[in-house]
Amino acid sequence: MSINNSLCFSLSLSLSLSLSLSLSLSLSVSICFSTSLPLLMLLRAVQAENVTVLEGGTAQISCRLQNYDGSIVVIQNPRRQTLFFNGTRALKDDRFQMVLFTPRLVRITLTNVSVSDEGGYFCQLYTDDTHHQVATLSVSVPPDTPTVEVKQEAVEGGEVELTCLSPRSKPPATLRWIRDRREIPGVVSQQENGKTVSVSSTIRLHVERKDNGAVVSCEASHPALGGQKRVHHYRLDVYFAPTVRIIPPPGILREGDSLSLTCSITGNPLPRDVQWTRINDTLPERAEISGPTLQVSRLSQSHNGTYLCQAQNNYGRAADHYTLLVYDPGAVIETHSAVPYAVIGGILALLVFTVICVLIVTIWCSVRQKGSYLTHEASGLDEHGEVQEAFLNGNDASQGKKEYLL
Ligand SMILES: *[C@@H]1O[C@H](CO)[C@@H](O)[C@H](O)[C@H]1NC(C)=O
Ligand SMILES: *[C@@H]1O[C@H](CO)[C@@H](O)[C@H](O)[C@H]1NC(C)=O
Ligand SMILES: *[C@@H]1O[C@H](CO)[C@@H](O)[C@H](O)[C@H]1NC(C)=O
Ligand SMILES: *[C@@H]1O[C@H](CO)[C@@H](O)[C@H](O)[C@H]1NC(C)=O
Ligand SMILES: *[C@@H]1O[C@H](CO)[C@@H](O)[C@H](O)[C@H]1NC(C)=O
Repeated sequence: MSINNSLCFSLSLSLSLSLSLSLSLSLSVSICFSTSLPLLMLLRAVQAENVTVLEGGTAQISCRLQNYDGSIVVIQNPRRQTLFFNGTRALKDDRFQMVLFTPRLVRITLTNVSVSDEGGYFCQLYTDDTHHQVATLSVSVPPDTPTVEVKQEAVEGGEVELTCLSPRSKPPATLRWIRDRREIPGVVSQQENGKTVSVSSTIRLHVERKDNGAVVSCEASHPALGGQKRVHHYRLDVYFAPTVRIIPPPGILREGDSLSLTCSITGNPLPRDVQWTRINDTLPERAEISGPTLQVSRLSQSHNGTYLCQAQNNYGRAADHYTLLVYDPGAVIETHSAVPYAVIGGILALLVFTVICVLIVTIWCSVRQKGSYLTHEASGLDEHGEVQEAFLNGNDASQGKKEYLL
């Protein structure tokens, strides 16, 4: 002992006779204290840095020895139970291992750290019963991906209450609701659960049918996750009454054609059944219904009528109708030529008006100049003839068009 101490002097002046022992956690805590040599007692002031280990991870507890004289080194857990008595396991807990014991450094590891391992770990020389140093081990519990609970089903025009839940973290996780990159402020509550905390954040949203399928996300952030976030994307499920629209067939239908009517349906939940009926009548015998489509082959005029497509879910019902008119195979349909007729009529009227004006002007001129310019009269008549011809031609052309259109 005395030889060791004298060695100490020569090695390190600043230590001044002290036999020092230091404790560190994860190599980052360095605690030094001197043994109680009555005459030259000098405590080296070293601040203990607390160490944080993730739950389930491995903590390293290191005792830095200075001028070790062969005394017994004791390591104790927060409950002051001796873990190691100079290198020999004292407590039956396989998670603690002594990995190093040199005159400079004693190191133990603790695997699968749990929150119950938190607290101060002691490292001391057995001969020294008055001084010990404590380093605090903190265990951090990052949150799992939060869950989202819905209190009531969301119906259009109503409100929905969403609660984001992070049941276990330490320190408490921060929860944020995000929609379209904007935060929705929530009502946060925390509940301590032993050493961990349960955090929840509740929001209320007004919902319309356009919100169906929209995503609102709950993000959990935590110091142990760094900048990363654990995110739950929640898809809004908004219930709404159905809408129904019959997609009519293009063009007109004649006898012998086949009819195919499709009913386009929305709604949440989507109505499973579509009802096809004919108002004041039964469906034609040849009608075939497959899902939202009604088909009738070889149409006849007896199929004329108003057809109704109906659908319903728990939130309401909707219907749309289609009036079927079956024409003769040779029937002339006016619907499509209505617009060209009007245009042609307008052009004709303009033409006739112009011709009449020209005629009046020409006749007036020729009457005025008849006496003095005989030659001009002839040319005037020529013009007259041309105009008449043009008028007749125009009439012919328009009649030809009419026939074609009829
Ligand atoms: C270490 O943790 C303890 C207990 O939580 C605290 O009292 C002390 O101030 C902490 N020390 C440092 C250096 O953070
Ligand atoms: C304690 O252990 C160290 C390292 O194995 C050894 O050098 C020392 O002699 C031991 N001390 C006692 C008192 O057994
Ligand atoms: C770690 O500890 C927990 C309890 O604290 C236990 O349930 C789990 O099985 C342990 N895991 C391993 C790998 O030992
Ligand atoms: C159905 O019959 C009723 C009573 O006969 C009548 O008032 C109604 O206009 C009819 N509807 C159609 C679409 O024919
Ligand atoms: C069916 O509708 C067409 C077109 O309006 C009409 O010409 C025909 O007379 C109708 N037939 C019956 C049986 O109502």
